[in-house]
Order: sequence, then C-alpha cells, then structure tokens
Amino acid sequence: MTESPASSEAASFDATSFDSLETALSFAEVEPGANQRWTTWPSSTPTERGPDPRPAWVVTSAGALDTELGILKTGKEADVFLLERAVPDDPTQHTLLAAKRYRGIENRSFQRSAVYTEGRSTRNTRDTRALAKKTAHGREVAAAQWSLAEFEALCRMWERGAPVPYPVQVSGTEVLMEFLGDDRGIAAPRLAQVRGSNAEMQEYFTQVVELMRVFAAAGFAHGDLSAYNLLVHDGRVRVIDLPQIVDVIANPQGLDLLHRDCVNVCDWFARRRVECDAEALFADLLGMLF
Ligand SMILES: Nc1ncnc2c1ncn2[C@@H]1O[C@H](COP(=O)(O)OP(=O)(O)OP(=O)(O)O)[C@@H](O)[C@H]1O
Ligand SMILES: [Mg+2]
Repeated sequence: MTESPASSEAASFDATSFDSLETALSFAEVEPGANQRWTTWPSSTPTERGPDPRPAWVVTSAGALDTELGILKTGKEADVFLLERAVPDDPTQHTLLAAKRYRGIENRSFQRSAVYTEGRSTRNTRDTRALAKKTAHGREVAAAQWSLAEFEALCRMWERGAPVPYPVQVSGTEVLMEFLGDDRGIAAPRLAQVRGSNAEMQEYFTQVVELMRVFAAAGFAHGDLSAYNLLVHDGRVRVIDLPQIVDVIANPQGLDLLHRDCVNVCDWFARRRVECDAEALFADLLGMLF
C-alpha cells in the first residue's frame, strides 16, 4: 500500500524526532561556565581514544561537560589538572580524570626565552618576530608529540597489563587518563611520600619489580622510574609519567637506562631497609628481554 503524502508527513513527525528536539533544546539550555567546556570525546578520532575493552566508567556522551576542578601538579614540561567529565543531571555518567597538558605556546618560560633571543641572533625585528613565531609553533608541535608519545606508551602498557592509569583520550597537547585518587579528588600519594611498615615497603618493592617485569617483557624500560613516578592507590603501586619509555633493544642507551631504573628503585628501597640488589634485578629483567 502506498502511503499518502499526508500520512508520511505525520509519520516523520513521530515521538522519536520530538525526543531529539527536546534533547537539542536541553543542550541549548546548558552553557559551559568559565571553568568548563563541552566534552572533547565526540571530536576525537578512534586512534585518539584508549584501547578496547573500554572501562565502563569512561563517559562518552556528547552531552557531557568537562569541568576543571583544580591543578594537581605543575611541572617543567607539563601541568596535571583534575577534570570532571559528567552529564549534567545524570549521576550515572560522572567521572574524574587527570588531564596532563604539555606546555605549548602559552608557556611562560618560552616567552622568557623569546625575550632572551630577541636582538641576540638578529637585529631585524621582522626576522625576530618570524623566528619567535617559528619557535612558538615548534614548541606547540613538540608538546603535542610528547602527549602523543605518552598516550601511546600508556595504551601499549595498559594492553600488556601494566598498572598504568587507563588512557582515555589524547587531543593535541592534552592526555586524559584515569584519575588515581578518591571520589573527592584527593590524588593517590607518590611512593616517595608514603610511610609504611617494613612489610608494607617489602610488598611495594615486590609490586614495583612486577611492573618492571611487565615493561621488560614488552621490550621496554620506563626510563625515568623513581618514587615520584609511582603512586600508591588502594594498596597497589601504579606507574605514571611514561612519555620517555625506552625500547631497550632498539635504543642504543636502552640497557643503560634500564640499569639506571634498577639502581634508582633499589637505592630508594634499600634506604627503607628493604633488601634488594640492583644488579640481580637488572639480570632478572634482562632475562625477560631475551
Ligand atoms: N593519573 C593520575 N592520577 C592522579 N594523580 C596524577 C596522575 N597523573 C599525574 N598525577 C600527579 O601529577 C604529578 C605529575 O605527573 P607526571 O609525573 O606525569 O608529570 P611530570 O610533568 O613528569 O611531573 P614531574 O616533572 O614532577 O615528574 C604526579 O606526581 C601525581 O602527583
Ligand atoms: Mg613525573
């Protein structure tokens, strides 16, 4: 039976399109505040998203807002912010994230360095401006490369089962990852700040060796392992700060860097009266590589 134009028109004005009209209206009513933005999830490509299977807590709704709740740590190359990603009025779609932002053109030390180079390398102000612009652009590109390197390292190690924060997303100079901390936004302490019994320290050492073995089995060394890049969350040691992970075989410095990680870790634990031997650990990890 052929439908008359009138009835097909009626069919197109069904409840579903009315619902979406309502959704559109409620979207329009929500305006991101000064410390907010719309979620960046919908504009990310599949390669900019974390590995499958995606944990259930990841909020993927286009109706979510990202709210900046504060700064967790400022650093030389990057700052880490606490971010809430949540759908307004939907308590089931709410999560805290750590947003690690590599410094780009807005970097203060860059502005200072532009001032220093001005008039030094060239007296022509036009050239100076062009140079400064190029450097600014260069820094932005470098910052994005670091964030991508960290995101890819997190993905790779997450897939191998290493206790890294789940990498949610990368966009430009920003890596969004699982926030290690409590519901109120209190971050898990760095191992360096943790005081514990000898048995607890022994247990943390065992866990650190275990995660180093996961890295080594994948052919990698962390490359900057220290009690500052290990967090203790719910009794578990988690490892962060991965942009520089090292392919132990391909990198000419690979073995040295793996060895340095072993020495750093063992020195720290030895000072806390945990029995450990950096050379034995190094030999153990080498055994995982070959
Ligand atoms: N996923 C996370 N969950 C909770 N806190 C985090 C997370 N990632 C980073 N932090 C906090 O931010 C700090 C800095 O993070 P990270 O080491 O990755 O950055 P960094 O720029 O290398 O800093 P630094 O120069 O101090 O090593 C960490 O020591 C930790 O306190
Ligand atoms: Mg660090």
